Amino acid sequence: MEYTEQVMDHFMNPRNMGEMEDANGVGTVGNAKCGDIMRIYIKVENDVITDVKFKTFGCGAAIATSSKATEIVKGMTLEEAEKVTNRMVMEALGGLPPVKVHCSVLAEEALHAAIQDYRARLEGGEAPRTDDDADVKYV
Ligand code: FES
Repeated sequence: MEYTEQVMDHFMNPRNMGEMEDANGVGTVGNAKCGDIMRIYIKVENDVITDVKFKTFGCGAAIATSSKATEIVKGMTLEEAEKVTNRMVMEALGGLPPVKVHCSVLAEEALHAAIQDYRARLEGGEAPRTDDDADVKYV
């Protein structure tokens, strides 16, 4: 199976790519096997993800799935976003070659890590973290 048109589009023209200075949730995950790393920033207001950005140091499938994942969750409530899976992201892209399925797991994990980070800050009354101290969780 080759890459679909949607995958190529999101790889060549990624949506929501970049950093977010006023994010109130940041999730960073890495793939222990290939070493690729993905970071997702979310801005949450009244339980709704009003803005989302990503930075991915990785393969084309990882870039395309992070781009698509940010598009999917923008405007969702946290509860809805928590239910987003790598399979949903892959389906929205028309599928991925079997050897690239693991790349889509990073998008799901980074999104969920960003939501967890937001919730942890809320409970702990912590100040937003910067890029430099966001831990990488390997999946
Ligand atoms: Fe590492 Fe795709 S090969 S995430």
